[in-house]
Amino acid sequence: MRHHWLLLRICHWALLILVFVGTLSFFRLVDGKKKSLLPVVVTAARWERWFAHCDVMCVCLFPTDYGDRGVQSWTGPRPKPVKASDPKAHVFQPTLPPLDPEWHSVNEKRIELLTSMCRNSSINNLTHVSISKFVLDRIFVCDKHKILFCQTPKVGNTQWKKVLIVLNGKFPTVDDVPEKLVHDHSGNGLHRLSSLTPQEISHRLNTYFKFLIVRDPFERLISAFKDKFEQNPRDEPWYNEDIAPMIIGTYRKSYWDGVLTPSELHFEEFVHYLVDVGVRRRILDQLFTNRIIHWMTYTELCAPCEIQYSAVGHHETLEKDAPYILHAAGVEGLVSYPGFPPDITRYNRTKVEQYFSGISKQDIRRLFARYQSDFHLFGYPRPDFLLN
Ligand SMILES: *[C@@H]1O[C@H](CO)[C@@H](O)[C@H](O)[C@H]1NC(C)=O
Ligand SMILES: *[C@@H]1O[C@H](CO)[C@@H](O)[C@H](O)[C@H]1NC(C)=O
Ligand SMILES: *[C@@H]1O[C@H](CO)[C@@H](O)[C@H](O)[C@H]1NC(C)=O
Repeated sequence: MRHHWLLLRICHWALLILVFVGTLSFFRLVDGKKKSLLPVVVTAARWERWFAHCDVMCVCLFPTDYGDRGVQSWTGPRPKPVKASDPKAHVFQPTLPPLDPEWHSVNEKRIELLTSMCRNSSINNLTHVSISKFVLDRIFVCDKHKILFCQTPKVGNTQWKKVLIVLNGKFPTVDDVPEKLVHDHSGNGLHRLSSLTPQEISHRLNTYFKFLIVRDPFERLISAFKDKFEQNPRDEPWYNEDIAPMIIGTYRKSYWDGVLTPSELHFEEFVHYLVDVGVRRRILDQLFTNRIIHWMTYTELCAPCEIQYSAVGHHETLEKDAPYILHAAGVEGLVSYPGFPPDITRYNRTKVEQYFSGISKQDIRRLFARYQSDFHLFGYPRPDFLLN
């Protein structure tokens, strides 16, 4: 059975690569000049679906819940998403409130919950991941002050990276760090833990101050969807030009009624991709490379049950967590987290309800199943208002 499956997967991949390469050269031949990769990826996604169907028919091995749903494709360029101005940009306040003396015990309770949930055998298979290179890639190192920070995208990480860049001594204050440099890891002096030797890594994991920031898992998914597919304020064309068409190609319901025109990725299709436990999502994830970090679980990103974090910040209470973390890490006074009006980080139930209003209960339950480790480990309540 295992062999059979492996063989099938290898065939599957080989065929997909053949089709991909074949289509690529076909487009080159036809045009004689390089074109957008979009038609190729859409075609590849379509063929991948076809093979998935074939696998199911032949061997009945892959359950495909969205199996009867078709493919839509187009060849024209997608319209550029409208660039929304960042509302946070011009409302920053100069500083955050001072350290709340109560916050030490708040953090202690969070760490206790994390530790006890990691021991809970009923969710064991969801909470434990190995400290792989993927995880070590997510962790940034500040040797000067013995701090490790695990990056969880869509949770205000850019500001924390700036804080670490300042602590590393490259710039005097957070405001001096150029926006472009924050994500340029060759130029900003902020190293990933994966760049060190195994001995250096375990020494740092055992002795440094380690922290991560989390927020409500569903609200984070909405934020990822908005930021990458609806607004795309950082001008990252691959989300709407490569990733969205492949998700649409694989999960869009209407096969024949749609005309071949470009359209936006719907939140519903994004959810279908996220809840797919079959081979198709694994293939897409491979093709999307590490851009999937925007919707991977905190568990997959930071291995919180394997790495003993010293502090867990919550986005919803960041105005209290930021001063606490700087204090606990021993760098209070050396750098300050940029101020912001607290209500922009608060949980917004109306927004969550709006986004999920078009999603079926079954899909919401599946989505909760996939992200439940994040809810349990970090004390976020089960969203009963969506599930019941
Ligand atoms: C373990 O997790 C399950 C599922 O979330 C929960 O119902 C149960 O109460 C937990 N057990 C303990 C001892 O925390
Ligand atoms: C984890 O284990 C539970 C039963 O204990 C099972 O229902 C669930 O499907 C498992 N999840 C994964 C991702 O293996
Ligand atoms: C919550 O979200 C809704 C819908 O997106 C929005 O209209 C409202 O202003 C938000 N509330 C706050 C306090 O940000």
